[in-house]
Amino acid sequence: MPEVLVELDRTRPGLAGQLTCALRAAISDGRLSAGTRLPSSRDLAGELALSRGVVVEAYEQLSAEGWLLARRGAGTTVAGRPPRTAGTLSGTAEPQSPSGGTERSPRADPVAVLRPGVPDLAMFPRADWRRAYERALRTARDADLDYGDPRGAPQLRAELTGYLGRVRAARIDPNHLFVTTGAAQAFGLLAGALRQRGATTVGIEDPGSPGVRGHLTANGLRLVPVPVDADGLDVAALAASGVAAVLVTPAHQFPTGVVLAPHRRHELLAWARRSGRLIIEDDYDAEFRYDRDPVGCLQGLAPDLVAHIGSVSKALAPGMRLGWLSVPPDLGPAVLAGKAAADLGGPVLEQLAFAELLGSGGYDRHLRRSRLVHRRRRDALIAALRRHLPQAQVSGIAAGLHLVLRLPAGVDDTALAAAATRAGLGPVPLSATRLDLSPAGRPSGGRTTAAEPGLVLGYAAHSPGELASAVQLLAGLMA
Ligand SMILES: Cc1ncc(COP(=O)(O)O)c(C=O)c1O
Repeated sequence: MPEVLVELDRTRPGLAGQLTCALRAAISDGRLSAGTRLPSSRDLAGELALSRGVVVEAYEQLSAEGWLLARRGAGTTVAGRPPRTAGTLSGTAEPQSPSGGTERSPRADPVAVLRPGVPDLAMFPRADWRRAYERALRTARDADLDYGDPRGAPQLRAELTGYLGRVRAARIDPNHLFVTTGAAQAFGLLAGALRQRGATTVGIEDPGSPGVRGHLTANGLRLVPVPVDADGLDVAALAASGVAAVLVTPAHQFPTGVVLAPHRRHELLAWARRSGRLIIEDDYDAEFRYDRDPVGCLQGLAPDLVAHIGSVSKALAPGMRLGWLSVPPDLGPAVLAGKAAADLGGPVLEQLAFAELLGSGGYDRHLRRSRLVHRRRRDALIAALRRHLPQAQVSGIAAGLHLVLRLPAGVDDTALAAAATRAGLGPVPLSATRLDLSPAGRPSGGRTTAAEPGLVLGYAAHSPGELASAVQLLAGLMA
């Protein structure tokens, strides 16, 4: 590598972040030019007296952002700039990053460290999205720009059918597949369709996602908590509850992280078949698994019993507001009417661009890249927790974007999370995920695995250094 000034302040935490910024700045202002080969992570670590992991992390981050190219056997090089004439999507001549996106100040408005459920928004594949969007714009027929099918662009529904079959073992009929503005709209559409059928109640995992509950109650359904244990949803309790439908997160229960055990899957499907009730499967972060075999979705086992929901919120960015809902055929007409009434269908160019991203393999590539980065961050968070909070117990680590930290009895997790928020962190107290806080809902009979105090901690959006500093801060607050 040519001589380049890399200034590091070793008195501050987050050396990987500092190195990333320094290299990004050097590339951005031309001190490191396209095609320059960087030293191996080992050599640069030696040169700068850093641990090799710090350099690896900086290289990975910059590769994900498109500044560097890492090729097996060929080392790491500075990425080439696209021709200036390409312009930006808006036609202005803003400076561009090598990934084709416009220049941006890193983390101008950062996601709070440890906030669960958010991906690293700096990893958004801007270059691939830009290419996909441009191609969509170029190839869309005039007729595609008219009011279209409220279910969504046929091209995207076809791509999603293939993707969900391939990656999630789903058996989707594109006729019964809806493109939605995130899982949020899918919950609302299903709640509306259930209400039309005369349903008033829905079973919901306890603990579960407070946000998801809100979408159901806002659409007129009453929630009935169903406990979760180490095998997932307690189906016997569900059967006793008499609800019209149940919402589950079988691949990665939110927040506990447990996988619905095979015997429970069969019991659940048998319950739905026997009683004619609906299973709503929220497959919210199923693409992210690290040291666990993949689990196919429930929908693939029984497409006539299961409504399947997913979105790009965890894989790309929540701001995309892009999701999908596959329904059993008998729910199709009511959901179609609800979708048409809501919006006559979502924004078509985004849908066509997403179809391009799926079809070109760009989405798969992004998932593979993110999985590697997430795994490293998860490991870093676990290591920091073991070091600074050895009295707390970590669980739910095999998949997803978050884990659960169980705290010693007597700790007020709500107060702790509030103090952490004031300090700029974003953990969610486990108690906020519980619905049934009555004495009967407490864990005396082992009814749930999460009534003890704890925190739900996200790790996907921050570097190992940032996570370690946040844990140190958290440990200080607990003390
Ligand atoms: C359990 C669960 N399901 C689904 C979602 C995704 O919602 P959306 O696709 O509307 O962003 C979230 C988001 O936080 C979630 O926590």
